[in-house]
Amino acid sequence: MNKMILNNGVVIPSIGLGTYPLFGSQLSQIVLTAYDCGYRLFDTADNYYNEEDLGNSFSNLYHKRGNIREKLFIVTKISDELYRQNEITPGMNKGIYFWKNSPYMRSNHACHDIVTKKIETSLRFLKTDYIDLLLMHRPYPDFFEEIWYEMEQAYKAGKVRAIGLCNSYERHLDKLLKSGTVVPMVNQIETSPLNTKKVLIDYYTSKKVQMMVYSPLQTLKCKKEIEFLQYLEKISCKYGKNIGQVLLRYHIQRNLIPIPKSTNVNRLQSNIAVFDFCMTDTEIEELSSFNIDYQYLPESKGCPGF
Ligand SMILES: NC(=O)c1ccc[n+]([C@@H]2O[C@H](COP(=O)([O-])OP(=O)(O)OC[C@H]3O[C@@H](n4cnc5c(N)ncnc54)[C@H](OP(=O)(O)O)[C@@H]3O)[C@@H](O)[C@H]2O)c1
Repeated sequence: MNKMILNNGVVIPSIGLGTYPLFGSQLSQIVLTAYDCGYRLFDTADNYYNEEDLGNSFSNLYHKRGNIREKLFIVTKISDELYRQNEITPGMNKGIYFWKNSPYMRSNHACHDIVTKKIETSLRFLKTDYIDLLLMHRPYPDFFEEIWYEMEQAYKAGKVRAIGLCNSYERHLDKLLKSGTVVPMVNQIETSPLNTKKVLIDYYTSKKVQMMVYSPLQTLKCKKEIEFLQYLEKISCKYGKNIGQVLLRYHIQRNLIPIPKSTNVNRLQSNIAVFDFCMTDTEIEELSSFNIDYQYLPESKGCPGF
């Protein structure tokens, strides 16, 4: 398994498995198959509603393959959702957390309590003593620095080995570089040849923040970009790889960590078999030249870019 090193020295796999929307026995079977294919990084979030199922999938994995927790790299996120709300804040049935007018958040220590309880719940559901990487799911504008402060505390307490952001821009990193005490290790974003986000990625990379790519294959569904798809086919024929592999390799050669999701055994296998070929710099540039700022997942209106 190829690896990268985060800015705090933590070793992270160069590719991982997305787990949304996978649940129950299907998730358990996929985790086992993925492990056997070589996947070690598993990406979830508290609002994927599957942390508990993923924890059960890991139990099944340990039962079948031995106690290999230290070989896994578990990524989860702090989200602003209602999931498990009753468990975290009994009696609170409506509303969101990270919003300054939320009645709950106006109370003392609310941010501390929420983040602490969310982390404790993630640890319990994932059946682990530590999380390898904890991400803030969006740069929630009203509590961005406060949430980050609490994540720093969890990091310093050893509950998480690395902390980072998702969907964040240059200004978010700038804020944390000024007010925080820990430089984020990761920023997980959507990018593709149709949306290269070059300036953003260069900026984060210059500050030693590792970029991770979610929805790394969804751009294949952008069927109207015929010339782009034809170019992918051409490269795919040249290297004897499928177009999914070409796309994943594109991310890897940009030093990004893709986290594709698949329910299909053949695709699970082929998506990780991307370390035995290398495209030329010209091919990477030509792929990037298809950029049209295409975004598969629109940005959140409630937490705009935000
Ligand atoms: N941080 C965030 O805000 C955020 C947002 C969205 C997602 N994520 C994470 O990123 C992960 C991946 O994102 P995603 O599921 O949106 O997109 P993705 O992994 O890029 O694409 C998944 C889709 O592509 C298909 N697929 C898989 N391998 C393929 C291949 N080789 N060729 C063609 N199609 C292929 C899958 O179908 P089959 O299952 O049938 O193979 C599925 O329909 C999620 O599971 C989640 O963990 C994070």
